[in-house]
Amino acid sequence: MKRSVLIFMFLGMSILIFPSFLSTVENAFLEIRECTFSPQEMPSMLSNGDSFPTDSVTINGWVDNSYALNGLETNKDMISHAWGLWAALTTVTDQVCDGEPLRLFETWYSPQDVMRATMGGYRDMPQQINSTGNLEFRAKFESSNGSFHGRGLSAERGDIVGKVKFNPATAEAALDNKYYLNSVMTGKKVPGKVSTIELPTNSVALKPIYRVLTDRLKIYDGMYRFHKWSGKSDGLKDDDEFESYVYVCTDANDSRIDNVTVFGIDVFIHHTMSAAEAHNYNISSKEGAEYSNNIAAAGDMVIVLGSHVASRESTRWTWQTFYWTPTPDSPVFPSSVVMAEGRNTVSTLDKASSHYAVSLGYSMLSPAAPENYTPGITTYDRGSVYALNPFIEGTFTTDVFANQEYYYNLNGLGDLFITKNVDGLTSSCMGCHSQATYLGNGQEGKGAGTFIADQYVPRNAPWFTGELQTDFLWSLTGSFEVLPKGFEQYNKTH
Ligand code: HEC
Repeated sequence: MKRSVLIFMFLGMSILIFPSFLSTVENAFLEIRECTFSPQEMPSMLSNGDSFPTDSVTINGWVDNSYALNGLETNKDMISHAWGLWAALTTVTDQVCDGEPLRLFETWYSPQDVMRATMGGYRDMPQQINSTGNLEFRAKFESSNGSFHGRGLSAERGDIVGKVKFNPATAEAALDNKYYLNSVMTGKKVPGKVSTIELPTNSVALKPIYRVLTDRLKIYDGMYRFHKWSGKSDGLKDDDEFESYVYVCTDANDSRIDNVTVFGIDVFIHHTMSAAEAHNYNISSKEGAEYSNNIAAAGDMVIVLGSHVASRESTRWTWQTFYWTPTPDSPVFPSSVVMAEGRNTVSTLDKASSHYAVSLGYSMLSPAAPENYTPGITTYDRGSVYALNPFIEGTFTTDVFANQEYYYNLNGLGDLFITKNVDGLTSSCMGCHSQATYLGNGQEGKGAGTFIADQYVPRNAPWFTGELQTDFLWSLTGSFEVLPKGFEQYNKTH
């Protein structure tokens, strides 16, 4: 897949060359009322006993005790915290949509909810919302505004969809501070200085990803093919090219279920596709339905493949990702048995949510390098901490990170560059998210905004000078989110 700074350059070009393109995207999505429910906040205590938010001093203490074995974190406190977050997020609430109970994360706001509230001039986020956030069918990392298609994106082969979710605290902060308005964000940049926004410490952001069990994955009635991750050998391939399959049976009592090659739907977090989701899935290839062929229908099962989870409990956030695995007790890279054992420290994981593996990294390197660059700092003597989701970053080839070394050299940080960390399998959440910088209007950030793998990114790296860091959130950079109807126009005039 081709990504990196090209996305931003393309975005800039598309605005200049195709001025009407954005409004086409805007109108493509129908905002259908699915149901009515209230977004629920994180609990103040996680079921592993950690408070939420946990004090950053505590988290930094875990980071000081980080130990990476074969590039994977082994610190038990961090691992337990990650599972505590997952248990909270997947708790079934009393909120209901389309007759199905919602898990905590499903009740959360989407960036589009924040944009609509901004446009409506609301003081607070609405207490009730009408959509769980539409499933968007797009290449992973596709700029919502660019017709920049990923290799092999195909609903026919069951490619994946995702969305971004904010807990109420994050959504409220984004509304209060009008982070989706270009004028506000541009106004925060200070020439010659590194500027940043700051979200509250109880902010949580997610990127859940889904696979829709459409007819194209059907073997016969009730039985669907499911591409599973078998480890590094599946790396850098599209998920529909992962070597082996298992099968999902939509009847959890089917006698063919052996939990080795055939799994019941009840070991996946899942829901039934709504008409709104089916509509948006089918039209969301930007140019029309050429990828999805109207293949999804209301009533199809939607499986949660996994989710990225980031919390603002410490200034560099906590980073963990979850993905479905056929072997939850012994998951392979980028997870591990040590990480799987962390499930025993939480008390509330149900059957489905405990069938996922975790991969995490609360630092880019181990021992962690300081937040800001200090002369004499080195990286060659620190271990790498890889953290990735096989279904997202696991598919990323080196061209996603094509410009990283160039910018380290250009900015005099060449000595810090780790030459072996060049692709999705050698990436970390924190490394790439450090680069999230407001780049609305398609300017080029001279290194800011470039995707990088597991590298040390100081918060005061020279390429941030004159730019606005979006506190690690890419969905606040003005470049990735689908715009609700009318928002582009509103943004021009406010
Ligand atoms: C190569 C760069 C890159 C890497 C590596 C990466 N992300 Fe992201 N992430 C993005 C971009 C770009 C988005 C914007 C949304 C989109 O288009 O999917 C995003 C979105 C997110 C979001 C939604 C909030 C936001 O920032 O917009 C979360 C949470 C998230 N990622 C967590 C993670 C976690 C956890 C990992 C590691 C397991 C990770 N990311 C690895 C680039 C990256």
